[in-house]
Amino acid sequence: MPEKLVVGNWKMNPPSVADAVALGRDVAAHGQTGVAVGVAPPAIALAAVADALRGTAVAVYAQDLHWAERGAFTAQIAAAMLVDLAAGSIVGHSEVRRDQCDDDARVAKKLARAVEAGLRPILCVGESAAQHAAGEATAVVARQIAADLAEARHASLDRLVIAYEPVWAIGTGTPATGEHASAAARAIRAALKRAGLDGERVPILYGGSVSARSVGEFANADGIDGALVGGASLDADEFGAIVRAFA
Ligand code: 13P
Repeated sequence: MPEKLVVGNWKMNPPSVADAVALGRDVAAHGQTGVAVGVAPPAIALAAVADALRGTAVAVYAQDLHWAERGAFTAQIAAAMLVDLAAGSIVGHSEVRRDQCDDDARVAKKLARAVEAGLRPILCVGESAAQHAAGEATAVVARQIAADLAEARHASLDRLVIAYEPVWAIGTGTPATGEHASAAARAIRAALKRAGLDGERVPILYGGSVSARSVGEFANADGIDGALVGGASLDADEFGAIVRAFA
């Protein structure tokens, strides 16, 4: 059985570093449930939140990283800068693919850099609204998995996490169904196997409008091991309820 894991992706929230530290402390105050918990603060708050959460059970993740080791990459963050602060990093989030023009080739390089540096990658895949309407979800995620893993050495992927995040479900208040998420998880595990990995051991998180109200659908879905939570992770009590649903 893969490990259970719930991670809050705070995106470009909350408004200040002090608010981020306070939110991190509130998340940690919920205590342990047997489910691994992480938070991904914005880069500017990463060091302060990492400091505040040191010694707690809550792991800190970055939201993105650059693929290069160092150099002339204005505004970017290298894996080596993250290793002392973060357990891992989200890679390939659809908002980064959309706003920073990340394609699968760049995502593959970022994933390889993350694992080489010892960061646990949470690789995001998922179909767009148009692909969903065309019934292409499972084909799209299989294609993304193959392309996004192309640069990483297999031996370094033993702590890989996949987040299945259908783009049409993110921030819309309309999550996928558990059945849809399970079908995607099956396609992801088959693609991991084709890539030479033991897909049965890789945790697959669902992300897209997960709330305390909708989480039961995913906590009970076959093949789903946790959640990557956006908006609802900004409320520590609601996030705590989502974590407990997977316990
Ligand atoms: P929401 O939970 O706000 O839909 O965001 C999901 C997400 O993108 C997490 O990475």
